[in-house]
Amino acid sequence: MSGELSYAPHMGKDFDKSCKNLKAVNFKSIGGLIYVCLSDNPPEDIEDLEKVMHERLAPYDVRNAKVAHQVDVIEKGNWKLTIENNRECYHCSANHPELCVSFIDLDFGYDPESLSPEDREEAEAHFAMYQERTKNWEAEGFPSATVERTKNVVTNFRSQRLIISGAGESQTEDATAASSKLMGHMTRKDLGDMHLWGHNSWSHFMGDHAVTSFAIPLSADTTLVRTKWLVHKDAVEGVDYDLDKLTHVWIETTEQDAKLVARSHAGILDSAYEPGPYSRFTEGALNDFATWYVDRMRANGY
Ligand SMILES: [Fe+2]
Repeated sequence: MSGELSYAPHMGKDFDKSCKNLKAVNFKSIGGLIYVCLSDNPPEDIEDLEKVMHERLAPYDVRNAKVAHQVDVIEKGNWKLTIENNRECYHCSANHPELCVSFIDLDFGYDPESLSPEDREEAEAHFAMYQERTKNWEAEGFPSATVERTKNVVTNFRSQRLIISGAGESQTEDATAASSKLMGHMTRKDLGDMHLWGHNSWSHFMGDHAVTSFAIPLSADTTLVRTKWLVHKDAVEGVDYDLDKLTHVWIETTEQDAKLVARSHAGILDSAYEPGPYSRFTEGALNDFATWYVDRMRANGY
């Protein structure tokens, strides 16, 4: 589709339909993810994102994946609270029992002084294992190390291959794969979770399926969060995957987060509200996001 106006009868001979086409926008398909920029001057540093993610996403063949399910949630909060909520896992263990089967909240930071000597030893062993696993994945040709472009950039992103806890395969209730047909050209279920954050999105690419979410501000106090579950293009519901197993964790997690965002927004509007400090151990990404946002506003004259 070109976006040209194809049919407009009875508009008079002087009507120039070439002036009434759909408005053009800049976009880029990166590893099957479509990035749209409404500005006439799209950021040049999206090339960094392309360079990093093109290779990381190639085995998942997202371009040919099938959307198995989509859920829209309207959060009663400002979009920046939606992103702030997503940028930390401080709240995970108390709020996301389903996600925490496969997700390790400690991976997003902890204060070693807060842990008992036994727990600290366990955390240190976990991070040593992480380094080893990352090294092995990379040696096998799967880029896995953390790439963080969240400061002094226009295109804001972070990517890392995360370890999946428990059975280690997928973000499901028991951490085993939900689809027997793996994504794209994947041949293994033990390649963890290739995660990708953008300034308004978060995605997880696993052996058997992927989950992508993005936030669209609808107004100052409502935000649309659209989540899509992707599977191999030939995977058949009820044969290769069970839809409930595929979607349960992120349906629950998204609803839990929507409640937290609504509470945060209501709290901020309260006349007694006072901002509290971020945890420098677990909430550094929030500080980076807020700084990036202020920088972008200033760069655009606000
Ligand atoms: Fe959450």
